Amino acid sequence: MSIALVPTMGNLHAGHLELVRLGRRLADRCLVTIFVNPLQFGEGEDLASYPRTFEADRDKLRAVEADMLFAPSVEEVYPNGRSAQTRVEVPELSDLLCGASRSGHFVGVATVVCKLFNMAQPDLAVFGEKDYQQLLVIRRMVADLALPVKIVGMATAREPDGLARSSRNSYLNKAEREIAPRLYQTLQNTAQAIAAGENDLDSLETSAQATLRASGFRPDYYSVRRAADLMPPESADRELVVLAAAWLGRTRLIDNLRVTGKSMD
Ligand code: PAF
Repeated sequence: MSIALVPTMGNLHAGHLELVRLGRRLADRCLVTIFVNPLQFGEGEDLASYPRTFEADRDKLRAVEADMLFAPSVEEVYPNGRSAQTRVEVPELSDLLCGASRSGHFVGVATVVCKLFNMAQPDLAVFGEKDYQQLLVIRRMVADLALPVKIVGMATAREPDGLARSSRNSYLNKAEREIAPRLYQTLQNTAQAIAAGENDLDSLETSAQATLRASGFRPDYYSVRRAADLMPPESADRELVVLAAAWLGRTRLIDNLRVTGKSMD
């Protein structure tokens, strides 16, 4: 019997439920984990205020017929305490972009995902592409450690106005919620320019950041990278991804868009 794992931190939205539906299609049983992983939150981040909505999450999982729910306590996952916990580090890839502004974040992610894999022994695991860097970090970890789990990425689930679905969208106030879709619109504009042959990526990034600032965002990064490994593209690279993280009030939004460029040769 095959098992699909959908790891989450709860506060489930329609995007998570799509991951569960995909997990159910791909395996005989779909196991969902809910664990707000303290190891992936930095100092001053939203660990304490991260929405914990267990009953509502459980009901949503019942409605989509998830087969199993595992919601361990911090003590179950880190019985020796957090500071003594053995960690999994995916170097380089973890230090870029989100990793540059959230020091230690991807060590926390890789460690907990590796541990959940060992606890649940799934055949495959499903992750959303909204967290594109996280998906690549997990794929690299699985390859480097020869973990017997197939990693399945799923296209970003979006609200009707284009905003990527995220548990943190609930932090946005009404005015911010109206502005928020402009992040995706900006990514689309950049992607369209690249697809049309624009190859001055620096100036695309600079003007996108200015557009975001003018809309009220505080960009953390806005960068066009090689889709395979998030390195700066070389002239022959065509498979690219535009990635952004930007603050809107107290909410840090991330999003990305894949694009095939015209050859820069
Ligand atoms: O994407 C998330 O919700 C988390 O980073 C994950 C993969 C569940 C690990 O805690």
